[in-house]
Amino acid sequence: MASSNREEISIQDEAVDKSKFKTCKQIAFYRRQKRLCPGKSLYRALLDTVELSNSYVKFEIVNEECKVTLLVEIYEIEGNIFRLKINEKTPLKPRYEVPNVLIKEPACLRLTVSQKDTNKLVLACANEEQQLHITANPFQIQLVSKDETILSMNSNGLLYFEHFRLPPQFRKSTLQEKEDGSAKPSKEDQEDFGLWEEKFGHFLDIKANGPSSIGLDFSLHGFEHVYGIPQHAETLLLKNTSHSDAYRLYNLDVFGYKIHSKMGIYGSVPLLLAHKPDRTIGIFWLNSSETLVEIATKAAMEVNALPDFGSCMNVLLQCLGVLPSRAPDISKQRVLPQTDVRWMSESGIIDTFILMGPLPFDIFKQYAQLTGTQALPPLFSLGYHQCRWNYKDEEDVEDVDAGFDVSDIPYDVMWLDIEHTDGKRYFTWDKEKFGNPERLQKQILMKKKRKLVVILDPHIKVDPLYTIYSEAKEKGYYVKDHKGKDFEGICWPGLSSYLDFTNPEVREWYADQFAFETYKGSSEILFAWNDMNEPSVFRGVELTMQKDAVHYGKWEHREVHNLYGFYQQMATAEGLIRRSGGLERPFVLTRSFFAGSQKYGAVWTGDNRADWRYLKISIPMLLTISMAGISFCGADVGGFIGDPEPELLVRWYQAGALQPFFRGHANMQTKRREPWLFGEENTQIIRDAIKERYALLPYLYSLFYRSHTVSEPVMRPVWVEFPKELETFGIEDEYMLGNALLVYPVSEPKVTAVNVFLPGPQEIWYDFRKFLCLEGQGIVKIPVTLSNIPVMQRGGTIIPLKTSVGKSTEWMVDVPYELHIALDTKESAAGELYLDDGHSFQYVREKQFLLRKFTFHNNVFSSRCADENGQFHTKCVVEQILILGIKKKPSSVLASIHDGKDKAVAFTYDAKNSVLTLQKISLNVGIDWVLRIK
Ligand code: GLC
Repeated sequence: MASSNREEISIQDEAVDKSKFKTCKQIAFYRRQKRLCPGKSLYRALLDTVELSNSYVKFEIVNEECKVTLLVEIYEIEGNIFRLKINEKTPLKPRYEVPNVLIKEPACLRLTVSQKDTNKLVLACANEEQQLHITANPFQIQLVSKDETILSMNSNGLLYFEHFRLPPQFRKSTLQEKEDGSAKPSKEDQEDFGLWEEKFGHFLDIKANGPSSIGLDFSLHGFEHVYGIPQHAETLLLKNTSHSDAYRLYNLDVFGYKIHSKMGIYGSVPLLLAHKPDRTIGIFWLNSSETLVEIATKAAMEVNALPDFGSCMNVLLQCLGVLPSRAPDISKQRVLPQTDVRWMSESGIIDTFILMGPLPFDIFKQYAQLTGTQALPPLFSLGYHQCRWNYKDEEDVEDVDAGFDVSDIPYDVMWLDIEHTDGKRYFTWDKEKFGNPERLQKQILMKKKRKLVVILDPHIKVDPLYTIYSEAKEKGYYVKDHKGKDFEGICWPGLSSYLDFTNPEVREWYADQFAFETYKGSSEILFAWNDMNEPSVFRGVELTMQKDAVHYGKWEHREVHNLYGFYQQMATAEGLIRRSGGLERPFVLTRSFFAGSQKYGAVWTGDNRADWRYLKISIPMLLTISMAGISFCGADVGGFIGDPEPELLVRWYQAGALQPFFRGHANMQTKRREPWLFGEENTQIIRDAIKERYALLPYLYSLFYRSHTVSEPVMRPVWVEFPKELETFGIEDEYMLGNALLVYPVSEPKVTAVNVFLPGPQEIWYDFRKFLCLEGQGIVKIPVTLSNIPVMQRGGTIIPLKTSVGKSTEWMVDVPYELHIALDTKESAAGELYLDDGHSFQYVREKQFLLRKFTFHNNVFSSRCADENGQFHTKCVVEQILILGIKKKPSSVLASIHDGKDKAVAFTYDAKNSVLTLQKISLNVGIDWVLRIK
C-alpha cells in the first residue's frame, strides 16, 4: 500500500506541472491562418449556381488562387436564427460534422430571392424586417435588419478553408501546390506550418488528413460589448486580443489555472454574445476541434473632419485600423463602435448559427432551441454538498455527517473522491476503507435523508483482472492510438485506457454499469461525478490525449476533443436514469463540458485556489458559463488548492450559498476545513449563509424550472436584466440571481463597505435581510460586516421562501412557505413558485407539478395557478407574507378562498420601515386565494 501511495503522490505532482501548454504561436493552424491578412477575400461566389429549396439557399464559392470550390448553405431557422454552413464541394472524404449537440434538425423557413445581379444576391427572409445581402466578389454576407447592417461575414476577407488533399508522397509536385490559397509554402514552410506533422516538445502529432483548418471573420456593427465563449479565467467582457493570445477553446486539465489568461481550461462552449442598448446577438460556432477566437473592438468616436478631407480621414482611419477597409464615407459622422470576431478551428466544417435576439433573453431561448435547456435538477442537488479529496474511510464520513447535525448546519450530499475505490478502479470500493458501502448509504445517509456522490473518471486502469477494463478491452471500447492499438496513458490509477464515449455502443454499455446489480455497493442515493474528462492524460501532450488518437467511425481525436467530456456526462446521466427504470432524475457533475452539456447536469470551475483573486474571478466565470446555457454551475467553495484563511472561507460560503451549484471541496494536501473548524463565530456565519440558501430553495428551484422550460439563466449578469443601461454592461463583481435578487459577493479581505451599483432609475431596491428600502441609485456605498454579504431585492418582485430549515432538503418538504413581496414605484409586484416531488420525472410524464403565480396590485394579493396542466397536490401552506414598501398601516386584511368566506388575517406594521407582516395565514399553496388590504 505504502509504495503505491508514493506512486500516486508522484503522479499527482506530475499533474501540477503546467509548463507545457501551448501559446497561440505554438499552434500550427493558427500560424497558417495568420498568414492571411485582412483585406480582399480570396473567395468569389458563383451566383449562377444558386439553388433555392423550401429550407435553404445553396451556392458555390471558389478560391481564386487555388481554384478549390466550396459549397455554401444558408438557412433561416424558426425563431430568428440564421445558419451558415460551408464545406468542400467534393472532399476526398467526409469532413467531421458535430453530431448529438443539436437536439433536433432545426425547422427551417423559406428564403426567397428579392434581388439578383452579377455581383449581388439579396435574400428576403420570412421575418420581413430582415434581409441577407450576398456579394459575389469578394464574397461576403451581410445581415440587414430594417436597413441597418447588424453583422457581416467575411468582410475582412478572412474566410479560410484548407481542403483535404492527398499526402505529399501521393502528389506530383508538392512544393508548387498552394496549400490554402494564401501563399505558396516552401519546404521550410511545410515544417514550420505543421501541415502533416506537428511537434510540441517531444510530442509528434501525425495528421492523417493533413491540414484541415477553417476560419471566418464576423463584423458586429454597433457593438462594443462582447461576452461568452467559456471557459476562461477571465473578465466577463471579452477583451481585445489584438496584442495578446486569442481566446482558446480547448479542454485541458490545468491545475490551479492562471487568472486573466485566455488559455483553454476544462470546458468549451463556442457561443459568443454581443450586446448594445437596443439589441443582443449571438454567434454559435458549432465545431468541436481546437478553436481560437480573436476579438478586435473599436469604440465609438466622433469624427469632425471637413467635408474636403472626408475621404482622407476615411483612408487614415482605415490605415489605423479604426475602420474596416471598404467602409462607407464617414466624414462628419459619428463612427459607430464595431467588434470584429475571428473564429479559427483546427478541422471540421464551418457550421455557424447567428442568433438574432433582439433581447438577451431571446438569445438564451434561441440557443436552447438548438442545444437544449438546463436539465431540471433533483431538489437535493440544490442543497449544500460536502466534498474533500478524500474522506478517509466510512468512519470519517460518519463523523463528518454527524458534525453537520451537531453544528446545526444543513447539508444534502456527501462526496467520495478517487480514494474510495479499489486502486482507482471506478465502480469498485476500497475493501479496507469503504468495506461496507451499503451500510454507509442505507444506515447512515439514507436515514438522514441525504445522498452520496462518487467519482467516476473516464480513464480505466489497465488491469486484466478488473472486469470493467477487460470487458471494454474485449469489446474494443477504448480510444485507439494512431497505429490502431488501444490508447494507453497515465492517470490516477497509473497506466490506463480511455473509454471511447463518442461511440453510442460504449455509452450504452457504460450506462448499464450503473445497474444496481452490476455496480455492487451502489444504491438509489448514489449519484455521479465525472472528472478528468478533458480527457486528462498525465504524460500526454498538454496533459491530454494526442490528437492523432482514433475514435469510433475512424475520426481523429482532434475532431472530437472538446466533445469527450460531454459524451461521458451524457452516458452517466443515462445510466442513472436507466437504473431507476426511467423514473428518477439523475445528478451528474462534470469538469469538462461543451455546448449542450446543460442537458446532463452540472459543471464546476475545476481546480481553483484558496486565494481571494479566485473567489473574485469565479463570479465572471460562472456568469459566462450561465450565459452559455449551463445554469447549473459553481466553483469549489474555499478554493481547492491551499488553505483558505478563515475570512476567505467565510466569504466563499456566503458567495457559494447564492450560486447555482454549492459545494465545498478541498485538495488532498490541505488542512481539514469542515464548516465548524474555525471557531464559533465563523461557524455561526457559515451556518447562517447555508441556512439562508436552504430557506431560499423554493425561489432557486423555481428559477431552475424557468431555466429548464424557458432557458433563463439562473445566475445572470446585471446587464441582462437592465439591457438599456450602459453602466451595467461591464459589471462583474455583482450579479442577479433570477430577476429578483442582486448579490454582491465580498471578495476582498477586511472590507467595511462596498460600492454596489443599483441599476434602474425607476427601480426600488430593498435590503433582503433588513427589509429597508435603500436610498439612492447608481453606485451606493453599503457598509458590510463579516456576518453577511449585500443582497438586495428588486421592487416589483415576490420571492417564495421556507419559514424554517431542516437537516437537508428532504426534511423540509412540508415546511410552510413565506413570501417576500417587494413593491415597486407603482406599489405592485409579481413572482412565481414551482413545485413538484423534487426527484422524479413525474412532473413531465404525469404533470405532477404546480406552477403558481403571485401578484400584488392595488392592495390586493392573489395566488393563482399559472399552468392549468399541473396536477400536483401538496399539504404545504403559505404561513407568512412580508410586504415591503407599503406606505400606510392597513385597518384590516382579509383573506378569501374562491367562493369561500372572508377571514381576517393577523398583521403587524412597521411604520419606520414600511413593512407589513401578515401572520398565520395557513392557506394551501396549491389553491387560489386572495388577500385584500384595506
Ligand atoms: C482533480 C479534480 C479534483 C479532484 C481530484 C482528485 O484535480 O479537479 O476536484 O478532487 O482530481 O480526484
